[in-house]
Amino acid sequence: MDSQKTSQTIQDWVRRLPKAELHLHLEGTLEPDMLLQLAERNRILLPYDSVEAVRRAYAFTDLASFLRLYYQGTSVLCHEADFYELTMAYLRRAKADGVVHAEVFFDPQAHIERGISFAEVIEGIHHALEDGAKELGITCHLILCFLRDRPPHEAAAVLSQARPYLSWLCGVGLDSAERGHPPEWFMEVFERARSWGLHAVAHAGEEGPAAYIRQAMDVLHVERIDHGVRCEEDAMLMVRLARERMPLTVCPLSNVKLGVFSRLEDHNLARLLQRGLCITINSDDPAYFGGYVADNLLASARALQLDAQTIGVLCRNSLEASFLSPQERLHHMNQLDAIMESSGNG
Ligand code: ADE
Ligand code: ZN
Repeated sequence: MDSQKTSQTIQDWVRRLPKAELHLHLEGTLEPDMLLQLAERNRILLPYDSVEAVRRAYAFTDLASFLRLYYQGTSVLCHEADFYELTMAYLRRAKADGVVHAEVFFDPQAHIERGISFAEVIEGIHHALEDGAKELGITCHLILCFLRDRPPHEAAAVLSQARPYLSWLCGVGLDSAERGHPPEWFMEVFERARSWGLHAVAHAGEEGPAAYIRQAMDVLHVERIDHGVRCEEDAMLMVRLARERMPLTVCPLSNVKLGVFSRLEDHNLARLLQRGLCITINSDDPAYFGGYVADNLLASARALQLDAQTIGVLCRNSLEASFLSPQERLHHMNQLDAIMESSGNG
């Protein structure tokens, strides 16, 4: 078999493996063509006149330079229909990548501050998730993220606005510029969200120090750490993460684009896996970072020479780390095991 054919076979196999996506910002799935279409429809002036010009502008050096473009991108999302279309487009891509379940983030503060109502945002997203579940057979949960570079009282106000939609939410998260914005600032709002029965996750240890991972666990009582790759700087923390089987939702292509690692070959995810951590692979902001979840798995496998069994473990971890019920989790794991066995990797 020529190498091109082999590579196509591997790609198809990875896309067939049942997996959960646990770290995905819906606003980060805004592809350049949709960005331009929505800008025209909503009469938003952008400094680009073509898809190529948008792509040329996506040259980030770190989280701050990315976030400037990310928030500029969100400015074209104005109506319920925009959020609906964005979400449906993501679900179709996820389906093609073998995603059977997604727990997706949204950033209401980025929209409310532009005068868009919380209702328009969440209604558009929620109805797409409902239709996606029916049409595509993907289950999808929604996680409301607080922007950590804005004051905690604003996060509390957003949580109050979310109260009537509680049954549409699965959890709360913490994102945006990490350095200098420690998790402990958000203790109260996380406590309130958890008292309502919501799950808790937080970005920590992407650009910020390992101490923020500890804080997210000890103060916010999170059930997953988003990114978390800087845990390697704290040996005791690594032991704890492995012992507690605290999942890390790692995003390899994002980490390279934002300079957390200079090359994918230098990424520490394989080392973390070997140390017994529950590592999952995710796409973060795929429209900006060059790939969806299967692209992240395939690029990591290539750069770090991960074998088929390890790819299977990464998919299994994603199901284990999800907030699915034990029955749903077991169902998907059995499907995964069946594919692994039938392809000689059981
Ligand atoms: N918001 C969207 N993507 C993000 C990331 N990678 N880190 C922090 N906040 C984000
Ligand atoms: Zn993220």
